[in-house]
Amino acid sequence: MPVKNKKLMGVGMAMPRIDGPLKVSGTAMYTSDHHFPGMLYAVPVGSTIAKGRIEKLDVAKAEKMPGVHAIYHRANFNKVFRAAPDTDFTAYMDEHRPAFEDDTIRYYGQFVAVAVADTFEQAQAAADAVRVTYRAEKPNVSRDLGMGAQPVIPKPTEPNATSHNDEAPGVVSERGEVEKAFGTALVKIDQIYTTPPETHCAIELHATVAVWDGDGYTLYESTQAVGNHRNVMQQQLGVPKEKVRVISRFLGSGFGGKLFPWPHAALAGGVAREMNRPIKLVLSRAQVFQGAGHRPATQQRVRLSATPDGKLTSFTHDYINHTSILDEYKENCGEATPYFYSVPNLRVTAALTKRNVGCPTSMRGPGAVPGLFATETAMDELAIALHMDPLQLRAVNEPAMDESLKIPFSSRHTLECYSVGAEKFGWSKRTPQVGSMKQDGLTLGWGVAACSWLAERFPASASVDLRADGTARVSCGTQDIGTGTYTVLAQVTSEKLGVPVDRVEVVLGDTDLPPGPLSGGSMASASLIPAVYLAAEGAIQKLLLTAVSSPSSRFFGKKPEELEFKEGNVRLKGQTQGQEFGAVLRAAHVSAASGNGSAQGTFGGKAEVSRHSYGVHFVEVTWDEAIARLRVNRVVTVIDAGKIINPRTARNQIEGAAVMGIGMALFEETVYDHRSGAPINRNFADYVMATNADAPRIDVTFLDHPDMALNELGARGVGEIGLAGIAAAISSAVYHATGIRVRDLPIKIEDLLASK
Ligand code: MOS
Repeated sequence: MPVKNKKLMGVGMAMPRIDGPLKVSGTAMYTSDHHFPGMLYAVPVGSTIAKGRIEKLDVAKAEKMPGVHAIYHRANFNKVFRAAPDTDFTAYMDEHRPAFEDDTIRYYGQFVAVAVADTFEQAQAAADAVRVTYRAEKPNVSRDLGMGAQPVIPKPTEPNATSHNDEAPGVVSERGEVEKAFGTALVKIDQIYTTPPETHCAIELHATVAVWDGDGYTLYESTQAVGNHRNVMQQQLGVPKEKVRVISRFLGSGFGGKLFPWPHAALAGGVAREMNRPIKLVLSRAQVFQGAGHRPATQQRVRLSATPDGKLTSFTHDYINHTSILDEYKENCGEATPYFYSVPNLRVTAALTKRNVGCPTSMRGPGAVPGLFATETAMDELAIALHMDPLQLRAVNEPAMDESLKIPFSSRHTLECYSVGAEKFGWSKRTPQVGSMKQDGLTLGWGVAACSWLAERFPASASVDLRADGTARVSCGTQDIGTGTYTVLAQVTSEKLGVPVDRVEVVLGDTDLPPGPLSGGSMASASLIPAVYLAAEGAIQKLLLTAVSSPSSRFFGKKPEELEFKEGNVRLKGQTQGQEFGAVLRAAHVSAASGNGSAQGTFGGKAEVSRHSYGVHFVEVTWDEAIARLRVNRVVTVIDAGKIINPRTARNQIEGAAVMGIGMALFEETVYDHRSGAPINRNFADYVMATNADAPRIDVTFLDHPDMALNELGARGVGEIGLAGIAAAISSAVYHATGIRVRDLPIKIEDLLASK
């Protein structure tokens, strides 16, 4: 897309999103904006029990309703297969069972039928008219995951500090002797923390528009990973890879909920083929809550011990997350635990417990976000037990290396985060006594927590073209989920080519393009840089070859190595005057000089350096005891995420995450009715999120130290780290104001009514 900025703006410039005008003018095409002649609408029917069996499914009335073309269900539709298990996120999904595979119901809202009609309203009416008789059993949706009652059975597994959600239940990481060290310690903390199920709540609903042309598919999908989606759909729909094209140009975000396919996508594809008509299927908000992923409930026990001067002697982190009946989704709460602090004795264990809920999935900062709530709150509790400043406690336990993998950190500036943040926040003015700080008749609470998130790369390929009209084009089969990937890629390409950013076209969101990374794990930008750099070098080489080999070129007969490409011009080395690359190509009657680049990933491989991002959140809450009103009043966040390519889009990520963190700390919770098993607050009125009115001043600072172990620019990622740790900083600020330690999120006003 063309950019309106007239100035050259490369890496490091705080430029606005290049896709902004398309979005605000309504011309950006989201999945459900696509319409095709003859298109029909599909509306899935969800089960109204969470456990049991379908005894009878009566579609007689629904089938005869106006505009209805078909009602598909288990007895008349068997067009969707299971995808084979995947371990490297190339054809991955969390919920493996395709719709209608059997008659067993395992969660509320599980698809039992789908109504297809001329209009959405007709399909919805027909879906409502499907009568299902169930043999229901009592579901288990309990938030009590059994920590303490049900022993976590440690089973040795390969320790892998960079694992995302692939560790087996059992011991995740272990060193030293935790039991011995904890047993003999003078100062210790042993507490259980819980986090609730949370739902992603992207503004744009999950949607599929499936077009079958008699031979292959074009699938429009709101997905964070067009390539992974294609590879799953190819298997689920039983067609060759080249017969499936997936397009996702714009997303109304995903937060992890759209990383991997859900059953509606292949269902829409199967129906499109069966009916030989384009099909549009958009999940309702309730359906998103029921069966399109959520952050699972966790229970985490944290045991810490320290010497009286605050040196950690043991760190034990045991956690359980709920998962669905058929799938084993692991919320890796111990993501950051093994490497974050220096401690000789450490053990991290993971376990799962099954519930009658839809399959959980990755949600912004999966693992580390609930994990750091528990461990960073425990650090605050330990600081209080030690009569020590909580920031100082963190500083004295700063490690010199990754002690779990016994390798150096690639680039870690946690202590600088602490000092910069403390200065900006005014932390030295904090008085530690509970309720001791007052302002304008309110009690202030000040809390702090550290954060971390992995910094890795997925494999990526990209193409760069230098074109005869003087513009450049970069393309990649990744996607922009609203984070700024279009903009960042324009900047990276502009930087490498020396071509103004307003002359760089970016094309994303299509499996016909060179395969790109999924937009997850805060890895897209870091993954793309090496591929784009290689592709740009390839395009430059082609340009120089063109310049010397065309008889009509002014450089004809020179050797390519006698030329150079600088600021968009081809010139003889050592000369200042050159020819603009478009003119070079036009003279040679060549439309474009193109290069392709591919780079390996780092994720999941054996690490020689420990790559992570770091940060710290300082939070001020105000507590009005008279009317029991709690507000987050001020947030200061300092982030060490390598080179920041675009401070404007990056700050937007951290600010958004801080607001989401306020929601996590104070509001968000998907509540399951223990009788029906339904998520009962499955709408935006009852599922409370932080809004603008809850958002305080948020002061974001980036340290901007390039991490050259990751890519040519030293850029890591910023999509998730801002949410890590912030709930712990808020809960610790609440304790500082009220004297009440809330270990079960969200913190409710009811929890605080007992304060003095
Ligand atoms: Mo993120 S949960 O990896 O979209």
